Formats: sequence, structure tokens, C-alpha cells
Amino acid sequence: MKVKPVSAERLPDLLRSMPKAELHIHIEGSLEPELIFALGRRNGIPLAYPDVEALRRAYVFEHLQSFLDVYHAGTMVLRTEQDFYDMARAYLVRAHADNVVHAEIFFDTQTHTGHGLDAAVVINGLHRACMDAASQFGMSASLILCFLRHLSEQDAFEALEQAMPLRDKIVGIGLASSEVGHPPEKFARAFARCRELGFRLVAHAGEEGPPAYIWSALDILKVERIDHGVQSVQDPALMQRLLRDRIPLTVCPLSNLKLRVFPTLAQHNLGRLLDAGIVATVNSDDPAYFGGYLNQNFTQTFAALGLSAQQAWQLAQNSFNASFIDAGLRRNYTDRLGQVFETFDA
Ligand code: ADE
Ligand code: ZN
Repeated sequence: MKVKPVSAERLPDLLRSMPKAELHIHIEGSLEPELIFALGRRNGIPLAYPDVEALRRAYVFEHLQSFLDVYHAGTMVLRTEQDFYDMARAYLVRAHADNVVHAEIFFDTQTHTGHGLDAAVVINGLHRACMDAASQFGMSASLILCFLRHLSEQDAFEALEQAMPLRDKIVGIGLASSEVGHPPEKFARAFARCRELGFRLVAHAGEEGPPAYIWSALDILKVERIDHGVQSVQDPALMQRLLRDRIPLTVCPLSNLKLRVFPTLAQHNLGRLLDAGIVATVNSDDPAYFGGYLNQNFTQTFAALGLSAQQAWQLAQNSFNASFIDAGLRRNYTDRLGQVFETFDA
């Protein structure tokens, strides 16, 4: 679609009002400090910080691992199915307010089973929140179980086995946590099994790790999307591969800023990826920790990089094309997207 130009003053309104899909959000990363304290009180779990403000002040990260340590501490307050419901509900309410019409939500069970919970407590709570968002907001939401790559492949197989009774509540399998030193090929057999079982496959690769990890996610794990993937620009042959196979990248600009993948948003390579024709999307990753939900990722990145209304449409269109929704729903959402752009008062 050829989009008419929109003034810099009106662009944030367009970004906020356009329907879009979010494909890279870790639900545990949407746990706001207020909810951490409320759940801590509800479950009688003491926290290492005196109050919400002190906890929020601790959200300064050097790199991925320093974030993961704080993120993991936050998950200690999650105990019951209702806790998982409340966490997902809070995210879905915010996503709906951002005109997110479809969300593919990452979660992991290994963190929580490591704290003594049953995987069913996690999955049933999250799934119920997705169902309620569908009936109350008319949005679609599905769940992607991420294996934790700092743990062993055997642990991933165990997580898969525990999730299998709830298989119908999970659309896909992903790979998250500490990237460097844990290449995708460590999970070759687990992903092959998930593929046989009919799961859709994605993996984090090329966030901090090298282009080689993106190649092995594609060639060995056979994933359909790459989460982050911003390091692909270092490897021209990889860029050609992403273009040829139209492999989407779920890019997370504010995450990359907070975790120092790029020193400033103005140095982010999202514009470069779009100019090269890569199917890039914008996502929030862990919004409670990185300073913004989806619309803030869009508005701040567009301001920093001087991106256009045409690129806004492309990113929203990419988000639907890269999603795991069926063709009918995709047409419905992309039609709605076209209508918003046609009728927007530029
Ligand atoms: N888990 C939560 N956020 C993550 C990220 N940005 N990279 C890898 N694993 C994660
Ligand atoms: Zn992520």
C-alpha cells in the first residue's frame, strides 16, 4: 500500500491508532513493580527492596545477564494460577489500549517449576487471560513456550513433557535466556521433536550473540522467525538469506537500548533493516523493565530514527504477516490496518 505522508506532529497518533500485532513479549517481563509488591503481599513473599520506587531504581542494566538476574528475582512472587492470570490480564489490558489486536506471548515453565510450581498452574492461568481478552476485547492472543537456553537440552525435554497435556493451549516453542555460550544447536534434538509435534518454532538469536547463532537457528532448529536478530547486518550472506526466505525479525528497540545492544536509539539499525527489505517488526520484549509498552517502542524509535508513515504501515503489515494467525484473521487485521491509514487525518 502506498501511504500518504504524515506530519511529524501527527505521526505519534498514527502509530498509536494503527492496529498491530505484538510477537515478542515475555509475560514475566510485563510484571510491573506494583504487581510484584501486590503479589508478594498476597503470597507472603518478602522482597529484597523496601518499596516500588526502590525496585524500579534497580532497573539499570549492563547487558542481558544483569537484566535476567533481576527479572528472575521478580518471578519469585508468582505462586498460583490466579497470579499468572493477573499478570497476563494486566499485559493484555495495556496491549489492547495500544491497539494491539493480536499478541503472541512468550512464557517459560522452567523458572516456575524450579520454584516448585506445576506447569499446569502457569499455562492454565495465562491461557484463561488470553481467552478473556478474546471475548472482552475482540483481540486474539496465543502462547509460545520458551525453553531456557542456560539449562540443558534434557531440561527442555522435561519442560516439553510437562506441557504436553496442555498442548492445545500452546501455539509454538521458542528459545530464550542467556544467549552467548548457549548456541541454538544445543537444542537441536528438542526442537526437532517439537517440529514433529506440529509446534510453530522461533528462537532468540543475534541479540548479543553472533550471526552464526542466527544461521544455526534457521538451519539446525528450523525456526520460522528470529527474535531480535539485529546482529544479522554484520553478515551480508545472512541478510540475503533472510530476504530470500522472508524470515521475520522481531526487533525490540527499547530492550536493545536498555541492554546496551545499541548505545542510543538513534544508532538502532531498524531503519537499515527496513531499507534492506527485511520483514522487521517492533516489539516490547520485557516492557515493565525496559521503559515502555508497544506504542512507546514505536513512538520513541520513530522519533529517534526519523521513520515515515510508509514505514509505520510496513511494520504493522509485517507484524500480521509474521504472526501465526490463519489467513482469514490476517486479512481481517490487514484490512483494518488499511482503513486506518486511508481515513487518518494527516
Ligand atoms: N528473556 C526475557 N527477555 C529476554 C531477552 N531480551 N533475551 C533473552 N531472553 C529473555
Ligand atoms: Zn526476548
